[in-house]
Amino acid sequence: MLGAPTIRARKRRHGDAPLVMVTAYDEPGARLVAAAGVDLILVGDSLANVVLGHENTLHVTVEEMCHHVRAVAAAKPSVHVVADMPWLSYHVGVGDSVRNAAALIRSGANSVKLEGGRVRRDVVRALLAAEIPVMGHLGLTPQSVMMLGGFKVQAKTHEAAKLLIEDAQLLQDEGVFAVVIEGVPSVVGKIVTEAIDIPTIGIGAGPDTDGQVLVFHDLLGLGNRAPAKFVRQYADLGSEITKAIGRFAQDVRSGGFPDESEAYANPEGLFD
Ligand code: KIV
Repeated sequence: MLGAPTIRARKRRHGDAPLVMVTAYDEPGARLVAAAGVDLILVGDSLANVVLGHENTLHVTVEEMCHHVRAVAAAKPSVHVVADMPWLSYHVGVGDSVRNAAALIRSGANSVKLEGGRVRRDVVRALLAAEIPVMGHLGLTPQSVMMLGGFKVQAKTHEAAKLLIEDAQLLQDEGVFAVVIEGVPSVVGKIVTEAIDIPTIGIGAGPDTDGQVLVFHDLLGLGNRAPAKFVRQYADLGSEITKAIGRFAQDVRSGGFPDESEAYANPEGLFD
């Protein structure tokens, strides 16, 4: 398993391979993702929308996140597990933030991720002072959906791009070990990656970041809405699952399931 200091040193410009991060929310998901050889598993607060059926990530709590971190940890994945700090778990006070992050760590995470730059400085400091490795998240930060007025590409002006780069530098200087860059023009993904010495992990940030992350359900075709532009869907498991269950239903209704090989033999003499 890669520890936070090892991940912190990974940069493509040093000749390192890009980091691969995929979300997982339960034991089977974590087992499959780990078996594929990823570098990091993210128990994302996307749990809210991709698993629990909410409209956005604002609806998931620390308790729910811990429940799913425990399920992921149960797979003993031998992969660094990052847990998202959900909305309002690090916005109210520093003490609360440390306690909430600790709950995620005690549930089995190796680090936590939180959204925002300069406004999160005190929280990042407190978490690091409590020995909790922190991953940052800048750009299109889904927990800010109401303030952003929707899921819109960020850093489209020179001024906004400059602020994002400054935030990434600030997070690096505070000691975060990596930063997710989401939903920005490719050139911003490239420039921010060049501007800092910690790895950037992109999602909708173009090809030049130090790694890429995708959501499990998007990557596998299990989502309930049209995937975003930046998603590459590697399988259509949703259709496969529906087809397989349809075949089961057909077999049950036609009497074709179970057959003899799927049933226990009758003991001799029973009900002669
Ligand atoms: O919650 C999540 O899945 C995320 C990724 C989009 C990076 O934060």
